[in-house]
Amino acid sequence: MAEKVRICSVDDVAEGFPYAVNPAGFPALVVFQIANEIFVTGNLCTHGHALLSEGFQEGEVIECPLHGGAFDIRSGEPVALPCSERIPTYEAITENGEIFINASQRSGF
Ligand code: FES
Repeated sequence: MAEKVRICSVDDVAEGFPYAVNPAGFPALVVFQIANEIFVTGNLCTHGHALLSEGFQEGEVIECPLHGGAFDIRSGEPVALPCSERIPTYEAITENGEIFINASQRSGF
């Protein structure tokens, strides 16, 4: 079984309120809730150095707070300019109210 890294509790994450986490060995990450499903992506916008956890979640899209670029939270693909490069996504594993990611994703993508 793959090694898992705990990143936070399900209770820490509310829909519309991206939650920043910094697990050891990973880049800065952000956790989202969409309709009771949990998603984890990199927290750094690929256009600049803004934190997406300080942006605005609209359903399945996270808008960067700096220049208004945006990403699809599920796929990490950019959906609004000036963003043109995807953000990394991580498989979220939810168990007993805790959220984990797979340790094998340590190096990002
Ligand atoms: Fe995110 Fe420019 S830094 S859109």
